[in-house]
Amino acid sequence: MKKIFKVGLVGCGNIAETYFRAHRYFNNFKIVACADIDIQAAKKCAKIYKIKFMSVNELMRNQEIDIILNLTIPKAHYSVAIKALRNDKHVYSEKPLAINLKDGLSLIKLAKKKKLSIGNAPDTFLGGGNQKAKELLEKKVIGNIKFGNAIFAYPGIQSYHPNPEPWFEKKEGGPVIDMGPYYLTALVNLLGPAKNVLSQCLKNTAIRKIGIGPKKGKRIKVKCPTTYFSTIKFKNGTIIRLTLSFDVISHLRNHIELYGEEGSMVVPDPNMFGGSVLLSKKMGSDWKNYKTNKALLGKINIRTQSSRANESPTNANYRGAGLAEMIDSIKKRKIHRCNGELSLHVLNIIDAIHKSAKNNKRIEIKTNCKKPKFFSKKEINSIIK
Ligand SMILES: NC(=O)c1ccc[n+]([C@@H]2O[C@H](COP(=O)([O-])OP(=O)(O)OC[C@H]3O[C@@H](n4cnc5c(N)ncnc54)[C@H](O)[C@@H]3O)[C@@H](O)[C@H]2O)c1
Repeated sequence: MKKIFKVGLVGCGNIAETYFRAHRYFNNFKIVACADIDIQAAKKCAKIYKIKFMSVNELMRNQEIDIILNLTIPKAHYSVAIKALRNDKHVYSEKPLAINLKDGLSLIKLAKKKKLSIGNAPDTFLGGGNQKAKELLEKKVIGNIKFGNAIFAYPGIQSYHPNPEPWFEKKEGGPVIDMGPYYLTALVNLLGPAKNVLSQCLKNTAIRKIGIGPKKGKRIKVKCPTTYFSTIKFKNGTIIRLTLSFDVISHLRNHIELYGEEGSMVVPDPNMFGGSVLLSKKMGSDWKNYKTNKALLGKINIRTQSSRANESPTNANYRGAGLAEMIDSIKKRKIHRCNGELSLHVLNIIDAIHKSAKNNKRIEIKTNCKKPKFFSKKEINSIIK
């Protein structure tokens, strides 16, 4: 019989529901127990999903559990993931890998030493949208990419998250740690690893108001810059201008545009799995629409309007695909796509963006990673229900 991996969830907050929903889509894991530093949150989660709740330490030591799913806040990713590895468990964390490079490096080192798998969101680049863009780029449909633009900009998480404080903290806050992983991972998937970064930043307001939940109206201090403009040079020579901001009311720019020798491409939202790839090969021509709504990880499965400026009302959300692909890779003894090397490289770019803006200097990226391989239909079929 096909082994179903037993998953222990740490961090029963906002995003946990999305991972429980992943049970509907993927065939190789089951979340069987949960834990949280907030015992009430763990109890509530256990009741809703009819699973066991435990303390974090009990969960880590539980022999039944094969893998730890770490959905805590970014600041806690390191401490939870290192604990999992020390307890001889594979671990898959939400983005980012850690909030500083030193912690990221020690996670990868320990996972290697213990021969355990370490995986990390985002897994959205495994979706139909980014994979279609990858397929077209690798077929050289618009030649080599010379440069491009990318943007994520909206008014900030305080409008829809009941506990937005960490997103404005000094070390763990800001749009680069929050949304950078989606854009940077998608770009590395399309262009390969990055070479260097030059950045500038600003802070718009010193105070924000929580817009939802029991703390609605509470004023919180903004302790980090909330807008970053970066120029990233990739090893293949492509230069991307990336804007990440919590200070924009509305805009009409595309998430990612790539300009090649023989045409231009619009890449769909890297925060989601689906969307259309648009392509123009002649000045002023209509944009050819490569739809992904019939692709395996591109079909629309949510129909709620989000308040985010850049999100469409209907979307494809298959978060958990990276975890399922990691489990499949453990079984087949191959390297998974959302791997430690990739997430460490993305963390290195995040760190370089912060350092460059702070010191007004171009920063060379020290880590390297392989460009992930195209996610084939056959491989997707082996993890979906
Ligand atoms: N909310 C979203 O829309 C969204 C989407 C994609 C990814 N993410 C990512 O998912 C992660 C969690 O986000 P969220 O929105 O669910 O946050 P949240 O604040 O709603 O939930 C986090 C939970 O982790 C618990 N926690 C914190 N530190 C802990 C520790 N040391 N040990 C055990 N539990 C701990 C908290 O008590 C809380 O219940 C973040 O990394 C975020 O970037 C969130």
